[in-house]
Amino acid sequence: MHGVIRRASLPNTGRIDHIFDPDSKQYLHYGDLANDIDDLLYDIKPDEVYNLGSMSHVRVSFDIPVYTADVTGIGPLRILEGLRKLNMKQTRFYQASSSEMFGETPPPQGETSSFKPVSPYGCAKLFGYHITKSYRKGYGMFAANGILFNHESERRGLQFVTRKITRAAARIKLKKQESLTLGNLDAVRDWGHSHDYMRAVHMILQHDKPDDFIVSTGDAYSVRDFLDRVFEYLNLDWKHYVKQNSSYTRPNEVPSLIGNSDKIREVLGWKPQISFDQLVKRMVDNDLKEESKCDI
Ligand code: GDD
Repeated sequence: MHGVIRRASLPNTGRIDHIFDPDSKQYLHYGDLANDIDDLLYDIKPDEVYNLGSMSHVRVSFDIPVYTADVTGIGPLRILEGLRKLNMKQTRFYQASSSEMFGETPPPQGETSSFKPVSPYGCAKLFGYHITKSYRKGYGMFAANGILFNHESERRGLQFVTRKITRAAARIKLKKQESLTLGNLDAVRDWGHSHDYMRAVHMILQHDKPDDFIVSTGDAYSVRDFLDRVFEYLNLDWKHYVKQNSSYTRPNEVPSLIGNSDKIREVLGWKPQISFDQLVKRMVDNDLKEESKCDI
């Protein structure tokens, strides 16, 4: 198994160190979707490529839209074009498409819903989605899209709202922090657990034909609901601690994402196994454990 990471001045493998074993044929290479990775494709000759690389923060994409378009949008094209030029059309390609592409389209959103992205990130992802379909149709490549709704876990980045909340709540419980500042509390999302969603991603590439699938739970909660569940679990009232600030709101907000994942359930037999309450509990328990280890 081969992975590609960007070089950074500080170590950036903390979230895979526990599974990475260089003695068991696992390899990490430096690369960046802002450039092509043809040399890596040529050397590795992969059976399957999972493109999970992206500038993935929606709010930040408004600050660096051109970079976002290059990495998140053109990045998948660089890989597809590399596979095509190297005549590696037998390699299966997975594109991590996003529910953010639906933007203003009202829920429930499914494979046949229209796309109305409102963020630079959503627009870039939509290019990646269509170029994947284009290479499938035009060159007969096994190129598939998973349109994943929000997926979270104990290893979620600290700038995304779920982990921002669970970590702050754990710190407030441990008296290491006094308040938490958020943006829009009314946004509704369909939050699932990454463990379930990565099972779906693998299934999509094992299917007998390349296709596009929505991956979602179908259950919807607002940011406010998420706060309720997290603070309730810790016997706290979030209203005593949460502040709002416009620096965390977006020029355009996506109000409500709720997926219809009937197709992947019927065709591939996938269904999520980790409930919303279990997701909240796992994230909070993990942050309590992590935050208990250090004083700051
Ligand atoms: N990040 C963040 N920080 N979001 C906040 C905050 C805050 O302080 N306060 C409120 N929110 C709201 C956002 O406005 C948004 O409506 C919602 O919480 C979720 O924000 P994020 O967790 O940043 O996720 P996202 O929905 O914008 O994007 C995630 O899901 C996409 C799939 O739909 C990312 O993982 C994307 O990469 C992914 O494609």
